[in-house]
Amino acid sequence: MATQRNLDETTITDAVVDQFAGTPDPRLKHIMTSLVRHLHDFAREVNLTEDEWFQGIDFLTRTGHTCSDTRQEFILLSDALGLSQLVVAQNHKRAPAATEQTVFGPFHIEGATPQPDGANIAESMPGDPLFVTAQVTGIDGTPIVGATVDVWHADAEGFYDLQDPNWSRDEMRLRAVFQTNTDGRFSFRTIQPSAYPIPTDGPVGEMLQATNRSAMRPAHVHFRVSAPSYDTLITHIFVAGDRWLESDAVFGVRSSCIADFIRREANETAPDGSKPPQPFYTLDYTFRLQPI
Ligand SMILES: [Fe+2]
Repeated sequence: MATQRNLDETTITDAVVDQFAGTPDPRLKHIMTSLVRHLHDFAREVNLTEDEWFQGIDFLTRTGHTCSDTRQEFILLSDALGLSQLVVAQNHKRAPAATEQTVFGPFHIEGATPQPDGANIAESMPGDPLFVTAQVTGIDGTPIVGATVDVWHADAEGFYDLQDPNWSRDEMRLRAVFQTNTDGRFSFRTIQPSAYPIPTDGPVGEMLQATNRSAMRPAHVHFRVSAPSYDTLITHIFVAGDRWLESDAVFGVRSSCIADFIRREANETAPDGSKPPQPFYTLDYTFRLQPI
């Protein structure tokens, strides 16, 4: 038992760890012990001052206060510190043939509206039309029938619907849920997504500004693909050629998730058979799920 009295900046660590010795859950004990050791080592390494300690407390307090039903500043902080991608990487090691996992991000909403195959999820929204055709398969190429596919992305200005302060849940835009058909396929019409800055009007934005970091993310569409007996795939498909692919503010780019969003001229035939009167884009992608 470490001494619990007259503690200095070195002896205090074992004293605190000892207080967790009776934790019944061994995993919780391991996590708390390691957390204390790393936290204390961090404070000693940077010789943390009292002012800096309080700035940290204030920063985390304001990060919490910035969260709401439609804003998750703590996930954004985790993303911007690379913790989210680190946790994703160490929990989803997949066969090379499987589609790679990337960060979930703070803009997903559970309960998006189910849509039929081919639906337009950007009805009357400004932007270049984008036609997405996709298939969900196992790593051996076998189509997965009845997979559930959540889709969400930013608009042509780089904003998600829930970032609008007047937005409400019955006004979901650029998000939907699809089911794959008997060929494991699904398709939809939307608009070409734009690169965007992560929100900079909160504590995470202050951190980026104070450290001279870019807030930009390369243009992408988010997908969550789930099916029984497969590891749920949470990923983005990034637009090939985007200028921010090498400096994503949340470290989420995977080479295998960069795809060609092919520009087509007005009056060419789109995948749904229509001939849009303006230029448009097409994306065709195969999601390969890892069996559990
Ligand atoms: Fe996003």
